Amino acid sequence: MTAKQKSISGVSFVGSGSAIPAQIITNDQLALRVDTNDDWISTRTGIKQRRVLGPDESFSDLCFQASISALEMAKWGPESLDLVLLATSTPNDLFGSAPKIQAKLGAKNAVAFDLTAACSGFLFALVTAAQFLRNGSMKRVLVLGADQLSSWVDWDDRKSCVLFGDAAGALLMESSEGNSDDLLGFKLRSDGSRGDCLNLFEKRHFQTLVNTNMYQQGGFSPIQMNGQEVYKFAVREVPLILQDLLKSHQIDPESLDWLLLHQANKRILDAVADRLRISHSKVLSNLANYGNTSAATIPLMLDEAVRHGKIVQGDLIASSGFGAGLSWGAALFRWHGPS
Ligand code: COA
Repeated sequence: MTAKQKSISGVSFVGSGSAIPAQIITNDQLALRVDTNDDWISTRTGIKQRRVLGPDESFSDLCFQASISALEMAKWGPESLDLVLLATSTPNDLFGSAPKIQAKLGAKNAVAFDLTAACSGFLFALVTAAQFLRNGSMKRVLVLGADQLSSWVDWDDRKSCVLFGDAAGALLMESSEGNSDDLLGFKLRSDGSRGDCLNLFEKRHFQTLVNTNMYQQGGFSPIQMNGQEVYKFAVREVPLILQDLLKSHQIDPESLDWLLLHQANKRILDAVADRLRISHSKVLSNLANYGNTSAATIPLMLDEAVRHGKIVQGDLIASSGFGAGLSWGAALFRWHGPS
């Protein structure tokens, strides 16, 4: 799937928001549960701590708070939204969490639905939302990336549990007038044949329904990951898709203001930057504080960089998400911010 060159209207990125749980779990605390230590986790991943939702907060709360802070930044009322699109692999209702957020926000004119593409979910949702804006059927959309992977991590598996955390991020997009379009391009990819190296599979547990008839009880097994395979996939595919995207738009990597990658591992961020010959000073990173928050990493990082005045109006950003599926994608856009 590739961006069409011609569109009815363009896309503008006007507001961001994010929310994190209050509870912090440091590497030292994790070492009380599994055979690990701060030095190993910091050196191999760059992660120092992560946030985990506790009993006083909920997944919906995070999504709501992230949405509210984005709406406040843009000075938009919730009733002006046409779409609430939630990228998540961990909804608190398998029928969809987005409608509950839409209702809580009072976004009564918006259609709301979930989209699942693991850690690539936010980027896939951004591109999906852009299609509605470009074809003129919608004017204002809220895109959320949020995950509560702490519910699905095996906290006794040191090879994976050290990586993940919970968070929510939000982005407001608007159709733009005239010829201006801040979404310069995108590329999205999937390869289900390699999906076994990172999964959150259904638990196959059959029960008797009646007589000899059976039914499968719902449920999922904890996350299973082959870290080395995922690492190799990321450092190979992410530079390739970014190079491809930049080349197709005749953009030199040096002219980028920021590289906004899915925050999975500091070594992956560095390897991608090196492959693209982009200075590490242009690589946005906050994974030391949050770990891998799946669909939330990109909007959470974007929001922090905007609020800290790093990303400013007109900045050219190359973003890439990657993860389970396997799925990966890249988008090239300019930040506009609130008018
Ligand atoms: N603490 C201490 N030791 C650990 C450990 C931990 N948390 N996890 C693994 N180890 C040990 C292993 O058991 C192994 O020991 P051994 O040599 O005695 O067998 C050793 O450290 C090396 O393990 P390895 O798996 O080769 O480490 P690595 O350098 O590949 O790093 C990851 C592991 C998971 C950090 C790395 O592979 C990675 O980040 N992969 C990508 C994962 C990812 O991003 N997933 C989400 C994608 S969206």
